[in-house]
Amino acid sequence: MELADFLGLVHPVIAVFFVFPLIGIVVNYAWATRQRRLQAKSGDKSKIPASSGVEHKKLGSWLTGAIVGLVLIGLAYPIGKNLITNQVWGKAPFQVIFILLMFPATIASLVFLYRANTKLWRAVFATLTGAGLIILGFQDGVFRRDNEWYWSHYYIGMAAAMLMIFSLAIVPEIYKDKSHRWRLIHTVLNCLALVLFLGQSMTGTRDLLEIPLSWQEPYIYKCDFVNKTCPVPPTSLK
Ligand code: HEM
Ligand code: HEM
Repeated sequence: MELADFLGLVHPVIAVFFVFPLIGIVVNYAWATRQRRLQAKSGDKSKIPASSGVEHKKLGSWLTGAIVGLVLIGLAYPIGKNLITNQVWGKAPFQVIFILLMFPATIASLVFLYRANTKLWRAVFATLTGAGLIILGFQDGVFRRDNEWYWSHYYIGMAAAMLMIFSLAIVPEIYKDKSHRWRLIHTVLNCLALVLFLGQSMTGTRDLLEIPLSWQEPYIYKCDFVNKTCPVPPTSLK
């Protein structure tokens, strides 16, 4: 396997080996947190450990970082491939510098979001982190599948990432709000996030199936993807 193809596997491997198991653990603690709260509310003595809420929050924070990191890697590969194959540095060096700066800027915004205490700064850094991902997502090379956006690995992944960033930003609200309104908003939105993660597992594996190995590209990209036909090789002349 060539290096370019191998690098394309970094994002799927991290998703499968690290991120999806983490989603499983976070959801397990989420379920325990809710069950424990409801049991306590109805006056029952719960056997679920009191630490489940804290563990959910701790691993949930990890999950936000993991998803933002995964999206950045997923974007870095097609953007980088486009910059190199189209030799963009020679034509538009400032665009290359801008793109290269957007990656650390997005990561820095997320780091500040983890550290922000006031509502205003949490809103600012959540917006900046989300904006960083979207700006990078608009760069050339990223396959957004605009004509089938509802089935696009890009759009579903971006929506899931926004929900994770929002979850991290509203943690203090969930704890402060005695009416449980923020808790309910969080639960409903993240049940949707779970459906989006299912979508990512399906669209990601489909994309792996569709992307050719680099030595196959010149042949595969001659195909007509709308009519699903490929040029027939000329029969050998006798
Ligand atoms: C797939 C992702 C997630 C799902 C399905 C999920 C779901 C839930 C559920 C069901 C609860 C309990 C609600 C209740 O008590 O009725 C909860 C609580 C909470 N979640 Fe999440 N969540 C997810 C991700 C996250 C993330 C990324 C964070 C960010 C740090 C987070 C932070 C919290 C916090 C702070 C609580 C309150 C915990 C407590 O009561 O001690 N969650 N979540
Ligand atoms: C929570 C999980 C995931 C998220 C948030 C996510 C997000 C993304 C994003 C934003 C991109 C860049 C846009 C694009 O090219 O479509 C991308 C690319 C990609 N992802 Fe994922 N992804 C996830 C899981 C997976 C999984 C499980 C697989 C496969 C097993 C996968 C395979 C791919 C592939 C093949 C690409 C294309 C890279 C290219 O354009 O050459 N992803 N992902």
